[in-house]
Amino acid sequence: MTKSASGPPWWATAVFYQVYPRSFADGNGDGTGDLAGLRSRLGYLHDLGVDAIWISPFYRSPMADGGYDVADPCDVDPLFGSLDDFDALIADAHALGIRVTVDIVPNHFSDEHPWFVQALAGGAGSAQRAKFIFRPGRGEHGELPPNNWPSVFGGPAWTRVADGAWYLHLFAPEQPDLDWTNPAVPAEFERILRFWLDRGVDGFRVDVAHGMAKPAGLPDVDLSVIPSREEGATMPSLDDIRWDRDGVHEYHRIFRRVLDSYPGDRMAVGEAWVPDPERLARYVRPDELNLAFNFELVKAHWGAQAFRDAIERSLQAMSGVGAPCTWVLANHDVDRAASRYGGGMLGVARARAAALVQLSLPGAAYVYNGDELGLDNVALPDSALQDPTWQRSGHTERGRDGERVPLPWSGTAPPFGFTSAPASWLPMPPDWGALTVAAQESDPASTLLLYRRALALRRATADPCESSVDWLDATQDCLAYRSGGVVVVLNAGASAVPLPAGEVLLASGPMEQGVLPANTAVWLRA
Ligand code: GLC
Repeated sequence: MTKSASGPPWWATAVFYQVYPRSFADGNGDGTGDLAGLRSRLGYLHDLGVDAIWISPFYRSPMADGGYDVADPCDVDPLFGSLDDFDALIADAHALGIRVTVDIVPNHFSDEHPWFVQALAGGAGSAQRAKFIFRPGRGEHGELPPNNWPSVFGGPAWTRVADGAWYLHLFAPEQPDLDWTNPAVPAEFERILRFWLDRGVDGFRVDVAHGMAKPAGLPDVDLSVIPSREEGATMPSLDDIRWDRDGVHEYHRIFRRVLDSYPGDRMAVGEAWVPDPERLARYVRPDELNLAFNFELVKAHWGAQAFRDAIERSLQAMSGVGAPCTWVLANHDVDRAASRYGGGMLGVARARAAALVQLSLPGAAYVYNGDELGLDNVALPDSALQDPTWQRSGHTERGRDGERVPLPWSGTAPPFGFTSAPASWLPMPPDWGALTVAAQESDPASTLLLYRRALALRRATADPCESSVDWLDATQDCLAYRSGGVVVVLNAGASAVPLPAGEVLLASGPMEQGVLPANTAVWLRA
């Protein structure tokens, strides 16, 4: 991390808020969130106290994977608005002191991207095809896929085209993988980065940052090392040769050189699902990405020891390369924290406590839209499901729609002020009336006000130069440490414990005299 005289760069300690644009706020009344809706709610994000937003893809896309199938990375899909809307959004955000970061999706394009259309037309051996990963099939007539790789969304990672060749797609067939060994590919991504940097973006979230380099010869993978998606946020094994190849780091160095050629501490955060924090640290070596999502808290089951292990090991691994940790509790790909921790009131209580842990730790933090409202995953009817996982798995894996339901803003019935249309793109549960932003703003005990207070206190008490915590003695099922100007105590157990001495600055739930209740975390003045 490059430190200026005034301390580490902004991104090293920032709280980023992830906007899933389809689900945040609808500005044009078609039932799907968009850039105008987001722009109209910037005041909400300013009051929440976030430093930056990350907007998931809003680029031209047939939406086979919620916009992660990009057909034109340098234009806005009409579903979300226009480039003018983007320019207006970034101007307003900057005026409020909120930085704006956007996704780039370098592992694949949409099958409707002109490059892939040309690749299909160009035929075997053409220069257009060489931008993707086309191979002849196995078997007597090439009728078998070139190797045994499964796609992340289920089914084979290969699809055969009319002339008999197969192309690789680690995700949906509508997301053909690019061949990064072809110099045209990195050159194109440099152009894409510059396009958005010139428009004023402060940084990028790099999608599938662990996937762009493929093993030479594309050998079969040992299928026994691949966990099913339903097993949760399990990391790929080191033996899963589809991911985390050494060659990927050279591509991140290319990104970094482009970022560093712009003024103003532009940044990139990588989405790299790798087996452990030590592998993750390789993505944030001094000449690579600035940040990399740390999913250890997403993986950790509720419990003091599991949290402590996740935190200790992550801090240690990152300090080895001089990079900050980037703490994540949830995103659009994993169950919401409240659901992971048991759902219902218990799940929310634990999610609130976990948020106080997350937001107290040194480094950067990402908050997924709706987590500040204590939302749970929604059990959607089969007919509403849109995630390609549902189709591709032969209706055995429900996919990620449950954590993508639109945010409730106001009112007492769906669509709760999210849209002026009669219904939202995913149905909202009728019992969310008490969870709307409007309801929570006037409830001092609400999750929204807890987040607001936590972010304000974080600003006032965090020490931006710290990269570790001081562990303190704690009773069983508890966690205690000092970080910056606060002492954090988490009681992950099932019964109340004595509360250590000190002034309570913030508590994740109702407190009782002299004790810390179960499933509660507290910040004490250090
Ligand atoms: C990332 C995105 C996910 C998407 C996948 C393919 O993991 O977060 O939503 O489906 O990449 O682009």
